[in-house]
Amino acid sequence: MNQGRALLTASHLSKHFTTEDGLLHAVNDVSFEVKQGEIFGFIGLSGAGKSTLVRCLNLLERPDAGQIIFDGQDMTELNPQGLILARRKMGMIFQHFNLFLQKSVYQNIAYPLYLAGEKEDRIRDRVMTMLDYVDLKDKSAAYPSELSGGQKQRVAIARALAANPKLILSDEGTSALDPETTRSILTLLRKSVQDLGVTVILITHQMEVAKSICDRIAVMEDGRLIEEGPVEQLFVSPKQQRTIRFIQTLEDEIGEQDLKALSGGRVFRLTFPGESARQPILSNLIRRFDVEVNVLAGNINVVRSGKIGYLTIEMAGDPAVVEAGLQFLTDQDVNVEEVKHG
Ligand SMILES: Nc1ncnc2c1ncn2[C@@H]1O[C@H](COP(=O)(O)OP(=O)(O)O)[C@@H](O)[C@H]1O
Ligand SMILES: [Mg+2]
Repeated sequence: MNQGRALLTASHLSKHFTTEDGLLHAVNDVSFEVKQGEIFGFIGLSGAGKSTLVRCLNLLERPDAGQIIFDGQDMTELNPQGLILARRKMGMIFQHFNLFLQKSVYQNIAYPLYLAGEKEDRIRDRVMTMLDYVDLKDKSAAYPSELSGGQKQRVAIARALAANPKLILSDEGTSALDPETTRSILTLLRKSVQDLGVTVILITHQMEVAKSICDRIAVMEDGRLIEEGPVEQLFVSPKQQRTIRFIQTLEDEIGEQDLKALSGGRVFRLTFPGESARQPILSNLIRRFDVEVNVLAGNINVVRSGKIGYLTIEMAGDPAVVEAGLQFLTDQDVNVEEVKHG
């Protein structure tokens, strides 16, 4: 599959809108590289600029500045015909599926192939192959209104894959689906990467989605890409304070009441690479240092390549011993942040 080669390189992309409140930098000097065969995620709160960015990538929105090299071509330099051909190599899926409601499942999937000028029998072969691939062979004649959300998104994926694209752009492709259906769609995307060698750029505001499927993630905030990295690195040891804050905003899994110190000590949020490590580390902490440790909250997050444990603890005792305990945790590769009280 030749993973490692860049399929898409964006350099210093910017896009602004003129609004009533003045100039809005929806995408602000964003650079990144997506390698062939990976699933690259963009995560960020609503309004962060994710959709604008993805529309810039296929030139549905013309960036004010910057360059997009896709499959060896400079997208911003292409003439209209060149752009049509380049866009054919980019399939898109959306939150609301964007199927043609007056067309059958078969016709929806066939449509891009007609546009590409494929021959009738080749189209039929391809549509049947795609229907089989997304497990909807019996729905060929159905209309979108007769399908569930998950089935609609499968049709959209089949349509996106029909023309053999190199890249799939998914803008909130699972945001309208329940968790179980979300999982089945993500599994289908991962399967497409493995079987068909496509590359995926996945835009989402859902942490769980990004964590469970992406190889690398970029975090967007106010039009800027604030940090990117392999998914484990981003969640276990984010480099930027802003990323930590952002992850905490999304995680939102620790209730306020859990954070209150029980013994007047300091509260820390610990992030463990892996699930098994945390018990011995905590036992060692208590054995070696004369501190009182209270576990206030904890959970395990599953990421694609393993598990990440979170634990919020209170440490009470002699301030110097607490500091030594913190150093011990850091030495054990635990990421430690202090949780400040209101
Ligand atoms: N066509 C437009 N005109 C003016 N403002 C826009 C337009 N499209 C998006 N925006 C603004 O740009 C910002 C980023 O939007 P968007 O890219 O949709 O973010 P996201 O997909 O991360 O939610 C938002 O403040 C949004 O209101
Ligand atoms: Mg959006």
